[in-house]
Amino acid sequence: MTLTGLQEGVDRILERGGSDEEILQGVVEALEQLVEHYSWVGIYLVDGDDLVLGPWRGPQATEHVRIPIGQGVCGAAAASGETEVVDDVNADPRYLACFPSTRSEIVVPIFDEGRVVGEIDIDSDRAAAFGENDRAVLERIALQIGPHCRFGVATD
Ligand code: SME
Repeated sequence: MTLTGLQEGVDRILERGGSDEEILQGVVEALEQLVEHYSWVGIYLVDGDDLVLGPWRGPQATEHVRIPIGQGVCGAAAASGETEVVDDVNADPRYLACFPSTRSEIVVPIFDEGRVVGEIDIDSDRAAAFGENDRAVLERIALQIGPHCRFGVATD
């Protein structure tokens, strides 16, 4: 499946509609299922000074269900509002380990009305799995789902 196919899949989910939680769950499922190098996909939502894990899809649950903004790769992206791409997680001192198999990670902030309201976090079992195409498609998807992150914390 190409990243173009992924964009089409996400467009269909948004056209279909549903609750915000259903839409976000559909998007994480599409990301995890359609792109082979996306091993674990989650959406974190901003809750005060923290990120709280919302919908996710992958082989295992993560222990990092609440991350203070500023901590970890996730917290860095939320603090700066910039996408983080980590080619080798074991070489990044900020990295909060979730799964022993993870080699690389991308974290894309989600904005709504100019504020960071969440982020897409993807772990890959491949080193340096995330290129410019991944970044571009994921940043576009993040823009599309921003208005659906208003419902606040999905799980806690
Ligand atoms: N690795 C992240 C924590 C979240 S897990 O990857 C699901 C980080 O360093 O912030």
